[in-house]
Amino acid sequence: MDTLQTIEQIASSSKNRGEMAHADAVGTVGSDNCGDMLRLWIKFKEEDDGRRVIDKASFQSFGCQTAIAVASLATEMIRGKTASEALALSSEDLAAPLGALPPMKIHCAQLVEEALEAALSPQKSSHAPAISKPSALTLIDQLHAPTGKINIRLTTPHDDSV
Ligand code: FES
Repeated sequence: MDTLQTIEQIASSSKNRGEMAHADAVGTVGSDNCGDMLRLWIKFKEEDDGRRVIDKASFQSFGCQTAIAVASLATEMIRGKTASEALALSSEDLAAPLGALPPMKIHCAQLVEEALEAALSPQKSSHAPAISKPSALTLIDQLHAPTGKINIRLTTPHDDSV
């Protein structure tokens, strides 16, 4: 199966879609490359050894199949990781199960990496900090009625060859 078939298959059966009630962290990003948007919700739990790890994650996307597939993979991949372990994952790591992405799809995986960073490391953002208690509004509702409490960061593609 080639990369595009894998993307289509994973996107069509994607896991962890939809908003999450009582999330501990939320990151919302938009790509100025294509206008697509992605929001990621994360809930933590404390392990017996005291480590605070990601219990679950979910996402909403106004994006392409690649962004959906990578976001789905990412929500599975970050489970059981600490915030710093999750932040150490690059866009290449998150998209690795898909195979090598075509150059014009690299920014889609970067969008997911940026959403992770916006949720877990909002201090790196020049925008408002991520909300700790997300609104009950959906992503589309919130985009139409901004409250100033969401962390939207426009990303710039790292690969200028597209
Ligand atoms: Fe922009 Fe995929 S085309 S996120």
